[in-house]
Amino acid sequence: MNKAWWKEAVVYQIYPRSFYDSNGDGIGDLRGIIQKLDYLKELGIDVVWLCPVYKSPNDDNGYDISNYQDIMDEFGTLADWEELLAEMHKRGIKLVMDLVVNHSSDEHRWFEESRKSKDNPYRDYYVWRPGKDGREPNNWRSFFGGSAWQYDEQTGEYYLHLFTKKQPDLNWENPKVREEIYKMMDWWLQKGIDGFRMDVVNMLSKVPGLPDAPVLTRDRYQFGSQLYINGPRLMEFLTEMKQKVLSRYDILTVGETPLVTTQDAVMIANEETGVLKMVFQFEHMDLSAETGAEVGTVKPRKLSGLKDVMTRWQKGLENRAWNSIYLGNHDQPRSVSQFGEDSRYRVESAKLLATFIHMLQGTPYVYQGDEIGMTNVAFESIQDYRDVATLNLYKEAVEEKGVDPQAALKVIHAKSRDNARTPIQWDASGQAGFTKGTPWIKVNPNYKEINVSAALADPDSIFHYYKKLIQLRKENPVIVYGTYDLILDSHEEIYAFTRTLDRERLVVILNFSRNSPMFYLPENISFSSAELLIGNYNVHPSEDLRGTMLLPYEARVYRLR
Ligand code: GLC
Ligand code: CA
Repeated sequence: MNKAWWKEAVVYQIYPRSFYDSNGDGIGDLRGIIQKLDYLKELGIDVVWLCPVYKSPNDDNGYDISNYQDIMDEFGTLADWEELLAEMHKRGIKLVMDLVVNHSSDEHRWFEESRKSKDNPYRDYYVWRPGKDGREPNNWRSFFGGSAWQYDEQTGEYYLHLFTKKQPDLNWENPKVREEIYKMMDWWLQKGIDGFRMDVVNMLSKVPGLPDAPVLTRDRYQFGSQLYINGPRLMEFLTEMKQKVLSRYDILTVGETPLVTTQDAVMIANEETGVLKMVFQFEHMDLSAETGAEVGTVKPRKLSGLKDVMTRWQKGLENRAWNSIYLGNHDQPRSVSQFGEDSRYRVESAKLLATFIHMLQGTPYVYQGDEIGMTNVAFESIQDYRDVATLNLYKEAVEEKGVDPQAALKVIHAKSRDNARTPIQWDASGQAGFTKGTPWIKVNPNYKEINVSAALADPDSIFHYYKKLIQLRKENPVIVYGTYDLILDSHEEIYAFTRTLDRERLVVILNFSRNSPMFYLPENISFSSAELLIGNYNVHPSEDLRGTMLLPYEARVYRLR
């Protein structure tokens, strides 16, 4: 397998709105990030993925961009951004920018032109269609509820929006659109950034004719994913982007690619011929609960399901392609609440999950706040939620489908994207030290207990555990490049695997339960000594691997010799 800095790196994701507010307006900003760079340096991460900071009316918190080459007023100026980049580079931290080019804002100049008339030169920058029998051009449903089409009075046609109606889809069939985007990407790369995270990048190509989606539910609008996910021209577009822009820079490129299979990933992020360096896929996230489509019930999760998915990805990409490894981001509930236990075993299970993502093959992504074990929040009123997807889906459930508001809220407590968007809890002072003003979204009331300042002061904290894991990854190539092999395949409480590189072998033992199961290392794995590299309890390093009892959410990593 080829070596590469982006395989060895640990990425930290910043959702700037909620990171740190430097001027008291309640909104996190670029100067806030600059002030906290030493904290990130201390954690040891190598790369920051910065969620969108471009000009935006914020219908979807920056994922609706009205100017790709300028900074959102609330976040600062281009000069602040330049300073941020310089300060990061000074500390050896790389910067990956979010690239949102499946759609723009409806307030982007291109769209404002496009909607003016059918013969406007920008008309074809977006996807316009006449209605069909007095209705939308097809039955596609938007990810955030309702039709994926919006009627526009001015020209009497509909435009496509896979997300909110303020996020019209760009028309990638139009070579001019592609040229504009490549030019813009180059502009940022020339400024010295270190890569792009590409938002829903496998939705760029839509099936010609935009046919109806198969009708699978009784809803008026249907998910048409097979008509725009990994569409017919996707690889062509990405290959062109690689030739014209990406291949000229030594950068990290990661495609957010919902619903990809391992075969798709092997094509997109291929070791030799890939168009991107890695994919960011969702199969393991989709296991735990309903996502996207509806406010439904929260499904239970079985460890065997997680093992199946992760193992299929580990083995499917082995020596062929590269993956991102994560359990949370700004679109997901908090990882410790979803995959761990955020009450009694919060610290233990957060450390277990950290061990998990750092010990798999792939580039680990740490979402802001996970390094201190931040949890989901349960606001009592829908009024306290801010996320457009949450609000739309709530409205649809309660107003159109007659779902009981309390039941809808319960689902939101488990699944809302706002779970991950409450402000970073810096200390125990008012508003968690995030702002001197009123935060744009309420802080999680548990900030007095869970905060950065407490975590830094406690050598046993989740933060210091992350720091150690990140350090271990740097010191042990087997953690980055070693082959993954699952052991104890069908155990419903213990997830264990080995990592092997030449003569180096690690065994990773994770008790994903609050019970105390026995762990037996299979006899076919021979060793003469086992050295404990890291663990979330204080176990004696000579503990017998041929039969040892694990504590609730215990994680241990041994080096076998
Ligand atoms: C991606 C982003 C999400 C956004 C959506 C539309 O999934 O991660 O936050 O709402 O794309 O841009
Ligand atoms: Ca601010």
